[in-house]
Amino acid sequence: MCGIFAYLNYLTPKSRQEVLDLLLTGLKRLEYRGYDSTGVAIDSPDNKNIVMVKRTGKVKVLEEAIQEHFSGADYSEPVLTHIGIAHTRWATHGVPCERNSHPHRSDEGNGFVVVHNGIITNYNDVKTFLAKRGYDFESDTDTEVFAKLVHHLWKTHPTYSFRELVEQAILQVEGAFAIAVKSKHFPGECVASRRSSPLLVGIKTKTRLATDHIPILYGKADDKKLNPDQDTDSGKQQVLPRSESTSEFMPLEEKEVEYFFASDASAVIEHTNRVIYLEDDDVAAVRDGTLSIHRLKKSLDDPHAREITTLKMEIQQIMKGNYDYFMQKEIFEQPDSVVNTMRGRVRFDGNAIVLGGIKDYIPEIKRCRRLMLIGCGTSYHSAVATRQLLEELTELPVMVELASDFLDRNTPIFRDDVCFFISQSGETADTLMALRYCKQRGALIVGITNTVGSSICRESHCGVHINAGPEIGVASTKAYTSQFISLVMFALVMSEDRLSLQQRRLEILQALSKLADQIRAVLKLDSKVQELAKDLYQHKSLLIMGRGYNFATCLEGALKVKELTYMHSEGIMAGELKHGPLALVDDSMPVLMIVLRDPVYVKCMNALQQVTSRKGCPIIICEEGDEETQAFSSRHLEIPRTVDCLQGILTVIPMQLLSYHIAVLRGCDVDCPRNLAKSVTVE
Ligand code: AGP
Repeated sequence: MCGIFAYLNYLTPKSRQEVLDLLLTGLKRLEYRGYDSTGVAIDSPDNKNIVMVKRTGKVKVLEEAIQEHFSGADYSEPVLTHIGIAHTRWATHGVPCERNSHPHRSDEGNGFVVVHNGIITNYNDVKTFLAKRGYDFESDTDTEVFAKLVHHLWKTHPTYSFRELVEQAILQVEGAFAIAVKSKHFPGECVASRRSSPLLVGIKTKTRLATDHIPILYGKADDKKLNPDQDTDSGKQQVLPRSESTSEFMPLEEKEVEYFFASDASAVIEHTNRVIYLEDDDVAAVRDGTLSIHRLKKSLDDPHAREITTLKMEIQQIMKGNYDYFMQKEIFEQPDSVVNTMRGRVRFDGNAIVLGGIKDYIPEIKRCRRLMLIGCGTSYHSAVATRQLLEELTELPVMVELASDFLDRNTPIFRDDVCFFISQSGETADTLMALRYCKQRGALIVGITNTVGSSICRESHCGVHINAGPEIGVASTKAYTSQFISLVMFALVMSEDRLSLQQRRLEILQALSKLADQIRAVLKLDSKVQELAKDLYQHKSLLIMGRGYNFATCLEGALKVKELTYMHSEGIMAGELKHGPLALVDDSMPVLMIVLRDPVYVKCMNALQQVTSRKGCPIIICEEGDEETQAFSSRHLEIPRTVDCLQGILTVIPMQLLSYHIAVLRGCDVDCPRNLAKSVTVE
C-alpha cells in the first residue's frame, strides 16, 4: 500500500541535498509495502516555491530523476528549518503514472501539496463542489481534491491557521486516509492526520525529551461542520487546550528538533526510536518547532495525552544482511522467531504458559459461546492450521473466517462470542472492518498481531503480540509460523485445568521445546528444494495436496507459489480428490503431496495411490526414514517427526523455500511481487 514519509527539521541545519537523501531513504524503507510510483516535494532554493519530482516505478527511478532535476543547482547550503514530504503510491484511483503520483498540489503555484494513503470515498462530491468554483483537476486521483479543498478554504477563510484549514478539510471528507500536508503559505509547518490508515510521528532531539506525553487539544466547536458554501470564517474553530490536560502534560517545545511522519516505524527507526502513534482523527501539527495534537471531536473515553513510545525495533531487523532477499532472510530467521514468540510465555520446565496480554480475560473466554478466528491471506491460513487443536483443547465451537467474506455475509455475532483478529501488519482493512463490526455487537476482541501500535492492536480488548520481528518481504513467512505458535499457546492456556488433556498438553509442550532445532533441520533441505525448483519452474501449475493438520500448509504453500512465481497453484484437500481435482492429474501435471505419519496417514496414502495410479509423479513431503511412503516417488523431502498439531510448521517451510527458489529461477521480484502490497489498507 502507499507509504508516507515526511521530514521536518527545526533549527537543525540541513542542506536540501541532505533532506532529499533522508526522504529517499525513508521511501526505500517503505518500498516493501508495495507501490507503483513515487514522489517528493521540497522548498525551492529561494524558499519561494515548492519543487516536486514524481516518477512511475521504483524509488531508484525517482532518485535518478532527482539527480537530473537538481543538477547544476546548489542544494548544499544548509537550511535551518524546512519540511519535505515524500510518497510511494499504490494505485487505487487512476493508473500508475507521473500525473497520478503524489504529492498532489492545490494550484499551479503549488500553494499546498499533499501526500495521502487510503481512499477518500466522497471525492466525487468534493470535486464537483470545487469544479463549480473554478478548480481544474490534473489527475484522476481522490487525493487531489484534498489539496484543492484546503486551498479553497484558505482563500475563503484567510485568518485560519494551517492546522485549522486541514482540520476543516478533514471534516468534509469521508473514507480512510493518512495525510501529510506542506504549504508555501506556511513555511516550516507540517500538518498530518489519519483515519483508518496508519501514521506515526517520530521525534528526534539532541537532549532527552522533557515529556513522555503530548496533551490532546480540542476545537471549541467540536462538531461544527464547516459549510463549504459559506465563504466567511464564521465557522472558525477556536482551538483551546482542554483545561485538565495542560497541568499534567507539557506541550513538546524543543529548541532543536526533527520530526518524521511515516506510515510505519521501519522508516524512522534509523533516526529515532521515540514515536507517537496517531489515533483516528488526530491532527498533528508542527509550528515553530512545537508539536501539538488536536482532535476533531471530543469523546468521553479519550485519554488526555498521546504517549511517546520507545520502539523496540533494531535497525538490523529491517536490513537484508547477508541474504539476497528479505523473504529469504525471514525464512531462515524462523528458528529464532518461533523462540521469540514463546519467550517469557512458555516455561518448559514447569509445563506452564502465561499469555500476559490475555490472561485476565481467560475466565471470560472460557465462558464464551464460540471462538471466531478472522483474518486474510496467510493470517487466515494460520487459523485454518490451528482450528483442529483449538477445538480439541478448548472444546468450544471454532469458526474460521476470511474477513472479506465474513463482512459480505453480515455474519451474526453475539455478545458472548470471542473474536480473534489475526494480522501481521495489524492494518489490513478487511480484518480491521470485521473487528469493528464484532466490537459494535459486543463481542470480546482478541488481536493477534506482529505490529505494536497497529490499529488492530489498539482496537482490541486484549491480545497476543507474536514477536516475530519486522517482516519486510511481501510474502508472509515467519509471521505465519509465529501466528501458528501463538494460537497453539492459547489452546494450551485454555486447557490448563483439564485433567483429561494433561498428557496431550505435555506432548505438545515437549514438541514446542524441540521446534527451533527441527526448523533448522528442515532449512538444511534448502539445496534439495532448489533442485526440485529447477524441475518445476517452467511449468504452468502446481497442485499441493494434503489433509488434516497439513491442509493449511497446502493452502499456504499454494498462496506462496501464486504470489511469488505468478504460476497457478492450488491447495487441495486430499479428501476432495475424487470429487473433482483428480481429473487434473496426469503424467505431466506437477503435484506435491504431504503424507505424514499421523491419524490421517492411511487416507493420505490412499490419495497418493490415486495420484500415482493416474501416472502422476508427485513430490512427497514425508517423515524422516519413512521408506514405505518414499517408495511411491523418487522425489521426496524428509522432515523430522513432531506432534501432529505442529507438523504444519515443519511442512510449510519447504513450501516457503520452494516458492522462493521458483521465483528466483523465473526472475520474479521476490520481495515485492507484482500488483501486491505488504499491508492491504483498502477494502
Ligand atoms: C501473504 O504472503 C500475503 N502477502 C497476504 O496474504 C497477507 O497475509 C494478507 O494480506 C494479510 O495481511 P496481514 O497479516 O498483515 O493482515
